[in-house]
Amino acid sequence: MSSTAIAFYSPVATITKDEEKARKAKMSIIIERYKDKVSALPTNDDHHLCRYEGFWYCHGFWYHSKADFSVEAIMASQEDFQALPTDIFLASYPKTGTTWLKALAFAILNRTKFKTNSGSCPTHPLLTISPHDCVPFLESESFLNNPSYANGLMATHIPYTSLPKSIISSDCRIVYICRNPKDVLISFWHFLNKVRDDISTPTKLDDAFELFSKGMNAGGSFWDHMTGYYMASLERPNKVLFLKYEDLKKDTENEVKKLAKFIGNPFTEEEEYDGSVQKIIGLCGFENLSKVNKDTSKVLSDDIYFRKGIVGDSVNYLTTEMIQILDKITKEKCDGLDLSFEA
Ligand code: A3P
Repeated sequence: MSSTAIAFYSPVATITKDEEKARKAKMSIIIERYKDKVSALPTNDDHHLCRYEGFWYCHGFWYHSKADFSVEAIMASQEDFQALPTDIFLASYPKTGTTWLKALAFAILNRTKFKTNSGSCPTHPLLTISPHDCVPFLESESFLNNPSYANGLMATHIPYTSLPKSIISSDCRIVYICRNPKDVLISFWHFLNKVRDDISTPTKLDDAFELFSKGMNAGGSFWDHMTGYYMASLERPNKVLFLKYEDLKKDTENEVKKLAKFIGNPFTEEEEYDGSVQKIIGLCGFENLSKVNKDTSKVLSDDIYFRKGIVGDSVNYLTTEMIQILDKITKEKCDGLDLSFEA
């Protein structure tokens, strides 16, 4: 195995409710820094969104005040972040399999340090803490205030065209995970209703659908986000790998091997023979991770990242008309691209 394995493990990102006050104070400094720039942006006050570089984002604190993903955090990372050529970024639109990809990449890169056999290494980080604590988001307050802890493996929801310039110019590698938009919407809708402050008035699916199909949720248009990275993967195939959640579900072993190779840590023949690939798949599988991630003491409890973890669940929620509309948008946005979805 290559010696470039990233030796990272730090529980620093574990934000408990007690630490939330300090986090908000630090985020306020960032928000203050970009106050004027943000106030000049087009806004949609009904949804507390502003438009920046072609995508909609929350500004100030996200409406439920729990997440870091705001336009100010993106501006701060654009201004401050300096990528190294050895860095690896796991990019995604929310709810497309970020947690799974984080777990897989972390387990692959650290497989020498933390053996995956549960018998020989019961303390593998992924057996005790969330993948989100193992791989920080570049645009999160915890990262912006402590960039050293990522140690080369980071995640981001920032669209390709808005990434900090050094990520592109440093030539580092980016892995993007994508998922069929109907399942993304349903996953997003459930997620939002779990994290919002006022759970007594959940967002209706009709409203979530309306906003998602217009690209008006935090993170902007799913389709523009996806096609941005897809085009980049065509232009820079050695630097940008485009994965699909559905492929990862269907052909996990091959996709995991592809991922390992791309991030510079291919499995050796011996590892393939001794079941290392399967052990990583088992460690990072939905069944295992959803059992481990039960810490509800955090501001965003670990278990909210796990719901069903299946392909095609959206048919259980969306009307025929909603499906037709989403399929039509996908068809139009993917026109001329070799990009389609199974479900
Ligand atoms: P569902 O809501 O459809 O179940 P993200 O990690 O980008 O927030 O995406 C969350 C979605 O990925 C959720 O989808 C969640 O259940 C699913 N997920 C999380 N961990 C997974 C894993 N290890 N394997 C497969 N799916 C997983």
